[in-house]
Amino acid sequence: MSERIIKPARRLRGTIAVPGDKSISHRAAMLNALTDGEATIHNFLLGEDCLSTLGVLRELGVEWRLDESGDTPVLWIRGVGLRGFVEPSAVLDCGNSGTTMRLMSGILAGQAFFSTLSGDASLCTRPMARVAAPLREMGAQIDGREDGRFAPLAIRGGGLHGIRYRMPVASAQVKSSILLAGLFAQGETIVEEPEATRDHTERMLDTMGARIGREGPAVRLTPGAPLAPLSMRVPNDISAAAFWMVAASVHPDAEIHLTGVGMNPTRTGVIDVLRAMGADLSIDEERQAGGEPVADIVVRSARLRGTGIGGEQVLSAMDEVPVLAVAAAFADGTTVVRDAAELRVKESDRIATTVSQLAVLGVNIAEREDGMTIDGGGHVHGGDVRSFGDHRLAMALAAAALAGSGDVRIADAEAVAVSYPAFWQHLEELSQ
Ligand code: S3P
Repeated sequence: MSERIIKPARRLRGTIAVPGDKSISHRAAMLNALTDGEATIHNFLLGEDCLSTLGVLRELGVEWRLDESGDTPVLWIRGVGLRGFVEPSAVLDCGNSGTTMRLMSGILAGQAFFSTLSGDASLCTRPMARVAAPLREMGAQIDGREDGRFAPLAIRGGGLHGIRYRMPVASAQVKSSILLAGLFAQGETIVEEPEATRDHTERMLDTMGARIGREGPAVRLTPGAPLAPLSMRVPNDISAAAFWMVAASVHPDAEIHLTGVGMNPTRTGVIDVLRAMGADLSIDEERQAGGEPVADIVVRSARLRGTGIGGEQVLSAMDEVPVLAVAAAFADGTTVVRDAAELRVKESDRIATTVSQLAVLGVNIAEREDGMTIDGGGHVHGGDVRSFGDHRLAMALAAAALAGSGDVRIADAEAVAVSYPAFWQHLEELSQ
């Protein structure tokens, strides 16, 4: 268990390439594993979550190599085809990664063998019925603790048929799990989402040649088309960039340049919210990379004002709520976050943990059942806080500390390695 002491920064300056996108890195590895060829993925995220995905794929007989000698990590992977996995002899360890467990459940539901998926203490408390139920409807046998509500999950796959499924919760992981199972099913699979969630799976499957398309709120997948390997460069992760967007906005003397950031419209809610709060964000050089839009972002100090965050907007900023709470703490006026009950089932109960830890630093913040209320004003002092093993909470607390009035000691600070191993190094560079 490591701890970090973050001192208030005199100024924040610099240019940072945050690491590759976590969601896209997972998908690039999993989907290329299902092709009949080789692919090279530049800027693959070497965070613990994506390493969990690679570990699971290796247990299933997929060959891959990482090259860390250049500026950004490169993954080489050789697919085994749709039906080339071997039955794993050990439990598949998904670590802290919900994306690994939920998406791999869909792929394993299509395999005519037995597999088990487990993970760390946090992952084993996260809801899995949301994937077990539709995958069972498609014909897979799935068991797990409390009738499949929690991991470890045991899957005997194969013999799937397509379904039309309306998701009760808006979740990209659930949508992706069902679509991936649909690749192995007889007949079409249609997933209807209550609100649009991140669409990286659909984009990648489409680019690889799958028959997939959107019809209003539904995504339709027709199985049978071979998947072509896809070499690509992963855009930098907007969810990682968000920590610096907020750190620069709330610090009185800051200018941070963020290069090559993924700008998929299902992910840019954090930018919309920060702009509504009065942030000084400029977006340049918009371009395409690996079927995804990317851009360079410059963020400067700004006087923020409180705002309301809810409805569809909160969905595209869900992972950023902890750090948006930090922005709200430094803003003038009150910010209310609503419609964000899903935060309770993330890597930690992010409503409870964000509220309790920002309160330790003097922030006037209160829980709501579906979010939180933050009275701003910039009263953020030093103190002893902890991450609860949640990477995004650790980084949000660090962003608060940089603009606060005293030293912040963060326990369990190593959690950042789940999605952003170079976070502490980048923090030092920017605050030099
Ligand atoms: C992810 C989807 C989101 C997000 C998570 C990653 C993905 O969860 O919070 O960090 O890669 O598909 P949902 O399944 O709740 O949308």
